[in-house]
Amino acid sequence: MKGVIMACLSQLVSERFGQGKLYEIMEACGLDPRKKFMATEDIPEEQAMRMLKSTCDVLQINMEQAAEAFGDYWVNVYAPKIYGVYYKNVSNARDFLLRMDEVHVKTTKNMENAMPPRFSYAWEDDDTLVMTYKSSRDLIDICVGLVKGVGKHYQEDLLVTKLPGNRIRVKFAT
Ligand code: HEM
Repeated sequence: MKGVIMACLSQLVSERFGQGKLYEIMEACGLDPRKKFMATEDIPEEQAMRMLKSTCDVLQINMEQAAEAFGDYWVNVYAPKIYGVYYKNVSNARDFLLRMDEVHVKTTKNMENAMPPRFSYAWEDDDTLVMTYKSSRDLIDICVGLVKGVGKHYQEDLLVTKLPGNRIRVKFAT
């Protein structure tokens, strides 16, 4: 996993819960508490998953709550600062989500060893999109949290439901 995800998680924890909590998390998963994650650095998958789990343990939240907090922070605080270009000329959640497959390919094109998630799209009706999440990782809850973050960003009331088969149903308000 690319360091940018861990960098975002670290920033979220220290900003919202305090530096002390971040140190506790880093220690609990066997990392140097002073470590700074570089965006393009490769973090071994099991280490990334351990950090996610330690975050839940130390903050005493479950994975769904962690995923919502992460999704909100990534979409509304972290990504606008470093990936502002992907927000330009996109004025609603529908268009933003439909661009996510392409955005993941583009952002990671020049990052060595990147394995971005991919998305395919199907419409159930005019206002109901089903996104299929394709990744070697099993981060569907994070994905749901990110989609909810997109709804918040565009101040849209999205109904987001996790479906079997790594799919997410997004019902847009009409
Ligand atoms: C401007 C918006 C976004 C940008 C620039 C972006 C970029 C990235 C990058 C660079 C990674 C790391 C890939 C790697 O380690 O190989 C990543 C991971 C991920 N992204 Fe995004 N992302 C954005 C929004 C979203 C949204 C809205 C979703 C949900 C639909 C999403 C779902 C994920 C997931 C689930 C991962 C974790 C890796 C995995 O599951 O394989 N991202 N993203």
